[in-house]
Amino acid sequence: MTPEAKPKGSPVPSDKTNNGLYGRDILSVNQFSKQDLEYIFKVSKEMRTLVERFGSADLLQGKILANLFYEPSTRTSSSFIAAMERLGGKVIPIHGVKYSSVSKGESLPDTVRTLEAYADVIAIRHPEVGSAAIAAHYAKVPVINAGDGVGEHPTQALLDLFTILEEMGRIDGLRIAMVGDLKYGRTVHSLARLLRHYDVEMVFVSPDILRMPKHILEEVTERGQKYEETDNLQDTISNVDVLYVTRVQKERFEDLSEYERVKGFYIVDDEIMKKAKKDMIVMHPLPRVGEIAYTVDNDPRAAYFRQVRNGMFVRMALLAAVLGKA
Ligand code: NCD
Repeated sequence: MTPEAKPKGSPVPSDKTNNGLYGRDILSVNQFSKQDLEYIFKVSKEMRTLVERFGSADLLQGKILANLFYEPSTRTSSSFIAAMERLGGKVIPIHGVKYSSVSKGESLPDTVRTLEAYADVIAIRHPEVGSAAIAAHYAKVPVINAGDGVGEHPTQALLDLFTILEEMGRIDGLRIAMVGDLKYGRTVHSLARLLRHYDVEMVFVSPDILRMPKHILEEVTERGQKYEETDNLQDTISNVDVLYVTRVQKERFEDLSEYERVKGFYIVDDEIMKKAKKDMIVMHPLPRVGEIAYTVDNDPRAAYFRQVRNGMFVRMALLAAVLGKA
């Protein structure tokens, strides 16, 4: 028998509900309206200013985030920690679940119900699709999906979009290519869905066995959005404004010989960058494992480390919003 789900926290005064995110879980990008996105990006910009001017603030003083990571992470986990701490909050980091009661066989609902006794918000990364939604079902406090298997990675997609906006000054009218493992890469699943709010052309570049899943292609076309699919990066790169490169997700392959066949399929190096537009950008959620040559880092079009920093601002905005302080 599964335990009963609990209702989320009680309604809040109207002055705190205007962002519409107070007390809400963040599980999928599909929950966001365009207005939500504009709001999140506006607050993210304010967070950037705050960090640049003061380093930190006390907006979330007294609040605690539980960071529950069942899968490896460098950027997502540490940017949630940095975001919380820069806003004056504190963090319970559970990163090596092998050292927690999860390794004793504790269920996800029990772990979540324990953490909500201590924390005001929970960020969770888990190898199974839908795990964040399960956690949210049992938690009274807001749950933020920090990656659920091959499902979604909504906070990454928000920071990706924020980066495009910051770098290019707009999103509408851009031609955006996603390259690499579009089958297992959750970041591109979320990003493609989120881009449905904008007037963009999407190009999905992958080897045949790593194509974007059908259900996502269907969602993309639902709003009349156009997309192209190809396996040819050489032909694509000259005509895009954003090149979003991804890692082949080795850990998701059942057959490792298939991974070996496709792992080095695309490599963005100085040579291929000569074909790209002067004002395009290269993005990557990181970690990279050979898809982008290190020499490309010196190219001003390489935006991936600026993208990393933007992640902190966006997560500051999201934490403040769900905790009713934005
Ligand atoms: C990505 C992830 O975990 O989905 N990394 C990240 O969160 N920045 C991408 C990846 O692991 O390839």
